Amino acid sequence: MTILGIETSCDETAAALIEDGKTILSSVVASSAEIHAKTGGIIPEEAARKQISHIFPVINRCLEESSLAIDAVDAIAVTIGPGLIGSLLVGVETAKTLARVFEKPIVPVNHLLAHIYANWLGREKAPSFPALALVVSGGHTDLVLLKSHNQLEWIGGTRDDAAGEAFDKTARLLGLGYPGGPAISKLAGSYLSKHPTNNLRLFPRPMIGKNNFDFSFSGLKTAVSREIQKPDSKIDKGLFAAEVQEAICEVLVSKTLKAAALFRPKSLLLAGGVSANLRLRNFFEKEIGSRGLILDFFVPPVALCTDNAASIAACAYYKLKATPWRDISSKPELTIAG
Ligand code: KG4
Ligand code: ZN
Repeated sequence: MTILGIETSCDETAAALIEDGKTILSSVVASSAEIHAKTGGIIPEEAARKQISHIFPVINRCLEESSLAIDAVDAIAVTIGPGLIGSLLVGVETAKTLARVFEKPIVPVNHLLAHIYANWLGREKAPSFPALALVVSGGHTDLVLLKSHNQLEWIGGTRDDAAGEAFDKTARLLGLGYPGGPAISKLAGSYLSKHPTNNLRLFPRPMIGKNNFDFSFSGLKTAVSREIQKPDSKIDKGLFAAEVQEAICEVLVSKTLKAAALFRPKSLLLAGGVSANLRLRNFFEKEIGSRGLILDFFVPPVALCTDNAASIAACAYYKLKATPWRDISSKPELTIAG
């Protein structure tokens, strides 16, 4: 079965063709990040305006790259939320129009769940259930237990800022631009290659010892700002980047593996933009090994951690729930549990 996925929830405009939920025939992502880099963050109207001009060229390029005509598409999958309303509308209304004109079934997809399904793409061995998934994106941090494709239990999440937001906001304080995650990750990587150290403890590890699976990252930007404002402060941006990265990663790893020890999943899945972070990926691998946890650890290739349409089509394949196009609408406030 060939599914055309469409994704426009934030500043990307993406389309992908996926066969049987795992083979990528083509995947195209157009970003307007360079525009938002100039303003230090996303301006929703600007993002949506760009998406209107990108959407058809992106879908056309996706069909061309796979040498398939729209006739060969069995279903259309589209992100309905969560996300920016103007951006979501571009993808949803385009998908509905295509479904109507070409008489294709349409499958509404939850963007956060779709991040998790990046772990099914291009793999010989699919993750087994029960699977514990940590979704860390720009707007969300959620820990969920998937008992099957259709049974999800939410076990924790952030009480304030998302992990990606913590990277973005602290990067802004350090003057590193937008998006902050890749900037901090790069700077921290080069600092650590010159100063290998195990002693990064400048910033707090919020809620790390609490007996729950919740997170809180908003205090981190206050801690960074306080450190910068100290009268004798000599800011070494590389050191600060490494410290911020270490604080976020340690909390994410510690809480997730505490949940893994309790729920004993067969697989552990990372997903979302922050899972592109190299330190986070290595931290998980090392700790899973040293704690002797018996589970398969999955993390998507870097290009599939951030927003893309391949994950949208993969998610639709496993949760196939075709819906009449008239009943599909954008849902900016959707949560991972629906
Ligand atoms: O999943 P995503 O592409 O979009 C949302 O659904 O929000 O995530 C974007 C977030 C941004 O906050 C960005 O700074 C962060 O992912 N990010 C990273 C890295 N690459 C992207 N954070 C840390 N390290 C990275 N390498
Ligand atoms: Zn996302």
